[in-house]
Amino acid sequence: MNSLAIYPGSFDPVTNGHIDIIDKSLGIFDKIVVAIIVNPSKKTLFSIKEREMMLKSIFKDNEKIEIRSFEGLLVDFATLIGADTVIRGLRAVSDFEYEFQMALMNQRLNPKIKSVYLMPSPEFSFISSSIIKEVFFFGGDIAGLVPRGVVEFLEKKREV
Ligand code: PNS
Repeated sequence: MNSLAIYPGSFDPVTNGHIDIIDKSLGIFDKIVVAIIVNPSKKTLFSIKEREMMLKSIFKDNEKIEIRSFEGLLVDFATLIGADTVIRGLRAVSDFEYEFQMALMNQRLNPKIKSVYLMPSPEFSFISSSIIKEVFFFGGDIAGLVPRGVVEFLEKKREV
């Protein structure tokens, strides 16, 4: 049976750290569904459509990766698509508390869904979508930390 895992997140925007985790996941699972959360109560820079476009253009040639968006509980969406594993990246100890809480809650909500944590490569272990946005809008260099297409999306936001 082919293994299917779900990699959820806000991806506002996707960074090379996320891509690194997806690449590593492909060494473990046959297929990955990258699931973008639609959370109307959380203010994001990019709309769900824009985040979908960014991810779809990055992975357009990879049939093992599917880009979806979801609302509601992650475990429900995972069940709906037939995934029994949630992948999350763990950068530093500071990530641990939130991830631990989320993993245990998801386990309580649906014990069939397992959580798997992957460490990013060291060159991406300090980046987050938030820090990328901050550095970009203050004029700092983010080359090599996000895909080129994402820089273009960010530039469009600066023009607005
Ligand atoms: O990239 P992020 O913002 O750290 O991703 C967080 C995400 C989307 C994985 C998390 O907020 C989530 O799973 N939301 C769905 C709602 C849910 O299932 N909540 C219960 C588990 S805490």
